Amino acid sequence: MLQISPKSVRNIPAQGREIVQRFAEQGYQLEPEALEVIISYQGSKEELFRRIINSIDQSVAVIEMQHINNLIQSHPENRACHTASASSVHNRSFAQAVNHFSASVSTLPPIPSVPPISPSTTTPSKPPIPRLRQSIPDDHHSQECSVQLKGDITGRSTCMGEYDDFVCYFRDRYEKIREILSRRINSRPIESLGKSTSGREVSLIGMVLDIRNTSKGNRVIELEDPTGLIVAVVQKDGEAYEESGQIIPDEVIGVTGISDGNGRIFVKSLLWPDMPNHTAPLEKGSGHAIFISDLHVGSKYFMDEAWERFSCWLNGETEDPSGLASQVEYLVIAGDLVDGIGVYPGQQNDLAIMDIYSQYEAAAKMLNAIRRDIKIIISPGNHDIVRQAEPQPALPQEVQRCFRPDMLFVGNPARLTLSGVSVLIYHGRSIDDLVLRLPGISYANPEKAMIEMLRRRHLSPIYGSRVSIAPEHEDHYVISSPPAILHCGHVHTVGIARYKGVAVINSGTWQSQTDFQKKMNIQPVSAVAPIVDLATLKVRKLIFA
Ligand SMILES: [Fe+2]
Repeated sequence: MLQISPKSVRNIPAQGREIVQRFAEQGYQLEPEALEVIISYQGSKEELFRRIINSIDQSVAVIEMQHINNLIQSHPENRACHTASASSVHNRSFAQAVNHFSASVSTLPPIPSVPPISPSTTTPSKPPIPRLRQSIPDDHHSQECSVQLKGDITGRSTCMGEYDDFVCYFRDRYEKIREILSRRINSRPIESLGKSTSGREVSLIGMVLDIRNTSKGNRVIELEDPTGLIVAVVQKDGEAYEESGQIIPDEVIGVTGISDGNGRIFVKSLLWPDMPNHTAPLEKGSGHAIFISDLHVGSKYFMDEAWERFSCWLNGETEDPSGLASQVEYLVIAGDLVDGIGVYPGQQNDLAIMDIYSQYEAAAKMLNAIRRDIKIIISPGNHDIVRQAEPQPALPQEVQRCFRPDMLFVGNPARLTLSGVSVLIYHGRSIDDLVLRLPGISYANPEKAMIEMLRRRHLSPIYGSRVSIAPEHEDHYVISSPPAILHCGHVHTVGIARYKGVAVINSGTWQSQTDFQKKMNIQPVSAVAPIVDLATLKVRKLIFA
C-alpha cells in the first residue's frame, strides 16, 4: 500500500489534487493507477465520483483499479480511453507511478467539520432571489432538470403472484445484498461446507429462514443460499449471542464460525451489510428541500389552520425573518396525502370528506396554491388510492389531473435526485414490523427503525408480516447504493438523525391526535416540516402547530 508523503502531493496535477482531496474527505485514499484513470475519464467526474463512493465498501481504505473497473467500463465512451490510460499506467514502473501520483492525505486542507443536525427554526443567512428552474418533462428523465426520478415501480410491475415470481424476488434480494457483503467477507457457498470443512473456520452469506431458541438457551438460525441450507448455532455464552438478538427473518447476513462438516456452523461473528463508514454528508447540492408526509386530507383531524400557516409562510405571505422560505426549491411528500376510505374499521366516523376523489381535490387545491417555483414531489402511502401491496405505483392519472401539471408523482418507494442529491423516499410501513421485532425500536423514535433499514440495506426486510410485498422480479427495497437522504413517514412521529453520512428523516403528520390514538395513548407529532439545506444536508425542524 502506498505511503503518502507531504512532498509527493505537490507532484500531483491540480485536477488530481482536487480528486484526491474529494476522496480523502470521504475517508478514502486512491491508488495511483485509479487516480490516473479518473483524471482521464471522459464523462462527468462528479457523477463518477458519486458512483465510486456509492459502490465502495467501508472496509476499503485505498481505492484500487479493481474497485472502479466496472464503473468505468460500463460507460462505452470511456472504454477506449480507459484501456489506453490503464495500459499507459501498466507500462510504467511501480516506482515511477509512486513518484508521480502518491499523495498525502495529511497535507490536504483540513476537512470541514460536519454541522450537527440540530432542531432550529431560524437561520441567519440572507435569502437569495429564487431562481426559475425548468419544468419536469413527461419522461422525468431529463439530464437538464433539477429533479430526476431514478427508479420506482410505476409502469414496471411484472408480478403475477406465481411461484416463480417469489423465487425471482428472493434471489434478487439475496444477490444484491450478497454483493455488498462479499466486499467484506470471503464467503463460500453452503453446498461446499461438507465433511472436508469439519473443524475449520468458514464464512457464508445467507438469508435468514428462521430463528429460534433451544431449551439449553442457545440460538439457532436457519440460513439459506441458492445452493443449500445450514443451521447456524449461536451459543448462549458466545461473543455473538447478544448481537444475534438483532437478527430478523428474511434478511441477508454474513456468518463466520466453525463448521461441523455436517450441516451446522458454530457462530463466532455476524456481519450486516450496513452503510459505508462516512461521517461527512454523502453529496452536496444547492437550495433547500422540505420533507413532509401523512397529511391525511379529508380526515376531520387534518390540521387545516396549521397547513394554512405553512402555506402562507412558504408563499412569502407572512413574516419570515429567517428568509428561509424563499430558499425552498422542493417539497417532498412521503405518502398518505389523503385519509382515504375504508382503510380501517369505523374510519367513516373520522372523515370530514367522505369521497376519496373529493379528498384528492381538496389536497390538490392546497398544493396547487403553493409557489410555482417549488417542485412538489408526491409519493403514495397505505391510505392512498393505489394498490396496497408494495411497491406502490404513483397515484393514478385521474387523480394526478387534479394537480398542477408540473408536480412529480412517484411510486413508493422511489429514488430520485434533487439538485444532484440522492433521496430515497419510502412511506415507512415496515417500521411497524421493525418496532414489533427489534428490541429498543419504538414509534417514539422512528429514525432508529430507519437506521435499521440502512444497516440491513433493505427498506422492508421482514417478508409477509404487516407489509404486503408483491414478489416483483426485482426487489425494489434493497438499498444498493447509499442515499444522501432517507425520508419516511407513516408513524406520525418526527425523527431526525445522521447515520454514516445519511440524513435520516421521518416527517411526522399534519393530523392531530385521533380518538383511536387517544385510546392507544399514541401521541402524534403534528405540523412539523423538516427542512434540509441541500448544500450541507443540515436538517432543521420548522414548527407550524
Ligand atoms: Fe399516515
